[in-house]
Amino acid sequence: KNIESRFPENFLWGGALAASQCEGAALEDGKKWTTGDAMPYGVFGDVVIPPPENYLKKEAIDFYHRYKDDVKLFAEMGFKMLRISISWARIFPNGDEQEPNEKGLAFYDSLIDELRKYGIEPMITLVHFEIPLHLATEYGGWTNRKMIDFYQHFVETVYTRYKDKVTYWLTFNEINVILDAPFNGGGIQGKAEEIDKSVLYQAIHHQFVSSALATKIGHEINPNFKIGCMVANSPYYPLTPNPDDILEAMNRDRETLFFADVHARGKYPGYMKRYFAENEIHIEMTEEDKELMQKHTVDFISFSYYMSYCATADEALNIQELGNVKSTVKNPYLKASDWGWQIDPKGLRYALNQFYDRYQLPLFIVENGLGAVDELVSDEEGSYTVIDDYRIDYLKTHLQQVSEAMKDGVELLGYTSWGPIDMVSNSVSEMKKRYGFIYVDKHNDCSGTLERYKKKSFNWYKEVIASNGESL
Ligand code: BG6
Repeated sequence: KNIESRFPENFLWGGALAASQCEGAALEDGKKWTTGDAMPYGVFGDVVIPPPENYLKKEAIDFYHRYKDDVKLFAEMGFKMLRISISWARIFPNGDEQEPNEKGLAFYDSLIDELRKYGIEPMITLVHFEIPLHLATEYGGWTNRKMIDFYQHFVETVYTRYKDKVTYWLTFNEINVILDAPFNGGGIQGKAEEIDKSVLYQAIHHQFVSSALATKIGHEINPNFKIGCMVANSPYYPLTPNPDDILEAMNRDRETLFFADVHARGKYPGYMKRYFAENEIHIEMTEEDKELMQKHTVDFISFSYYMSYCATADEALNIQELGNVKSTVKNPYLKASDWGWQIDPKGLRYALNQFYDRYQLPLFIVENGLGAVDELVSDEEGSYTVIDDYRIDYLKTHLQQVSEAMKDGVELLGYTSWGPIDMVSNSVSEMKKRYGFIYVDKHNDCSGTLERYKKKSFNWYKEVIASNGESL
């Protein structure tokens, strides 16, 4: 096979953003607080209601006002796609209103038009780790079945508004993260281990029903819509060949696969029925819910991939270290990022194969990247840059494994790297943890000019896209 054929001609190269981490303008043009605003210290910090006077996401990187310049830079890199999310609270500030906020709708109109101007295909995440704060405080977030109606109204509104401009939609970002970070993923207050499992799985069920409903309604509004689910995919390896470790890894993997299984197969898998029975978890599920999930499965499966995890059944070896929003046993064969995320390019090939073998549906990598500390240095033209060879190395080795997976027969629609421009981190809410090809002069203490500078990786990614992966 020649090298050109590794990435298909229409492969959707690009980057991915999330409203709460880039837009800022927290209370502008009618928007009200969201659960994202109420997490000023990230997933591991306290929920603060109302949010403090000053915090990073309040202004973030001011994408709300600077999107035209930023989109221009993405276009310069040759992006075919930009994944964005719609902040629900810009459209329905409290979440339970009937009438949408026109200014919020108009903002996304202009952003989408700006992308289209450069031939960049938008992909929209309907809910990316934030709901209007009112829905969390007044209704208990996704624990409440009423959320299905509110979500349906929001989704119908934006589908109808953008139906001729947008084809790709994701119903929920990293839908499985709610298990470890209930406020982040579901607007549910309290620590995961303190929340009754029946309550948590009921909230998850409400999201499944909403996701199926969004798939149904979307296809009715525009049959060409491509609607996908999105999971945080970090495959588990057994620490040793001990059969107990194999089963431990299988079970830990199923904590993720459960979410993709329901979306792709339209029903709860047998292993979850056993888990529910053994843990006395009871959820309310109507016959209509079952029918909806069965009939309206997703068109494609998307996922984020940053790292692999490791599992063991041996108590003595089971020393947990922090990974993304959950912890892992250290894999002795892998190095980790500055934030302890284990770097494993081959794990991405493994994850792609695992998902494709299991579902035989097109896949989409909608997040991948390295969060690192960058140092701004002077460049030859009297401006500034970052020599981020470590980032280039991370992305290059991962994309090489993507091409291996495609040679294995995996059908992959595209790749949007996480944070093509520096943004506020979700887990630790820092600016110091940077992912971008574009540096933003903004710092943990909220200071900075917000100026943008191209890093070394900017031209590297531009070349990858221009050569359709041939330069890798
Ligand atoms: C994913 C999320 O978990 O990873 C993003 O979908 C997040 O919102 C990204 O920003 C990177 O994580 P972090 O914590 O380094 O920002």
